[in-house]
Amino acid sequence: MNVLLIGSGGREHALAWALSASPLLTKLYCAPGNPGIAQVAELAAIDITDHRAVINLCKAKNIDFVVVGPEAPLVAGLVNDLNGSGIKAFGPSKFAAQLEGSKGFTKDICANYNIPTAAYGRFKDLEKAKAYLASQGAPIVIKADGLAAGKGVTVAMTLPEAEAALQDIFSGRFGEAECVIEEFLEGEEASFFVLSDGTHVLPLATAQDHKRVGDGDVGPNTGGMGAYSPAPCMTEALCSQALEKIVKPTVKALADMGHPYVGVLYAGLILTKEGPKLIEYNARFGDPETQVMMLRLRDDLLTLLLATADGTLDKVSVRWRDDFALTVVMAAKGYPGDYVKGTEIKGLAQDFGGDVEIFHAGTALKDGRLLAVGGRVLNITALGKTAGDAQVKAYDAIGKIGWPGGFCRKDIGWRAIKS
Ligand code: AMP
Ligand code: GLY
Repeated sequence: MNVLLIGSGGREHALAWALSASPLLTKLYCAPGNPGIAQVAELAAIDITDHRAVINLCKAKNIDFVVVGPEAPLVAGLVNDLNGSGIKAFGPSKFAAQLEGSKGFTKDICANYNIPTAAYGRFKDLEKAKAYLASQGAPIVIKADGLAAGKGVTVAMTLPEAEAALQDIFSGRFGEAECVIEEFLEGEEASFFVLSDGTHVLPLATAQDHKRVGDGDVGPNTGGMGAYSPAPCMTEALCSQALEKIVKPTVKALADMGHPYVGVLYAGLILTKEGPKLIEYNARFGDPETQVMMLRLRDDLLTLLLATADGTLDKVSVRWRDDFALTVVMAAKGYPGDYVKGTEIKGLAQDFGGDVEIFHAGTALKDGRLLAVGGRVLNITALGKTAGDAQVKAYDAIGKIGWPGGFCRKDIGWRAIKS
């Protein structure tokens, strides 16, 4: 079958890498893609926010199945529009994608279905929000309601910090002024991924990422500077609690609302003393968590994604390598602030060994030269028997890459290596 993958990041390169190995695949296309993805797929330079253009591409290339990578097209209803044109697609509908697109939507489901999460208030009015804040005190967490590319959350240790975050949201910085104010939770964070076909749920894997830019998890938040899988703290018992108490009730809630959740559901959890609590949902695969998960996946990704879209997840199973996978993000100097664009990357053509894959995120080819054009640029991903083993392989590979314009954290995986 012909498959079209939507997206252009490291996550999509990892998905393309796995999809390209499928025995079911005739030809893989990707829109818009990147130079790494171009090694395994034919790229289509279309504007993916133009749903008519995506549909026309599907018709022109006889696409049988579309896999949507990022959240923005999901929240914009690309899957609805594809399905409306008779094209099968992987990913939740616009309504179901609100699990990621609207924090208030998710919090209300948690309240109605008794899903463990931080206590919260939801506000459209600054004065009411301030009054609630005063009644709760600090530490407290302030969240803009909509998609804010990871920048809409303030974990405030003091009340003035919390008030400043509220002012920011109600100044309209994140679009519509609406916020969630929630209880500060303490515990280790982990991510839990499942596939849902609307009725059946298939647990995939666990992972942890490093959100802060600096070694030791300090400095500003980023899209993620590295990740590893599995998450050692997510024991089988905790996975089963997260599945039964958090994920399954959510899938039921969406089905009850008449909008079954079809796609991958990524639960961001905090492991509190009372058990796992939901921090947030994402309606897509994680980036860079997908890069590590794909290295561990033993079964055919395309079969799993098709079973999700077809409602037959009860007929498939999934196996993972026991090995540990770890990815280090190389970013352009200056990221997550203003970063340098257009520096050249050398040395990617060499053999890094069978356990290392390099996924491209923000790269472009110009006159035969590979240039860094994004903030997060490369994902150096390695498989090892232990976390330490995978870490050594990833950093050895980084040592062989010639990119003076880039940097990476030196301690990705420290928590897993310690445990
Ligand atoms: P989110 O975008 O909702 O994942 O939040 C970003 C980060 O803020 C999370 O990864 C947590 O580190 C932190 N965070 C979010 N909500 C809470 C909470 N209720 N308590 C403590 N930390 C939180
Ligand atoms: N790694 C965080 C995310 O994909 O949202």
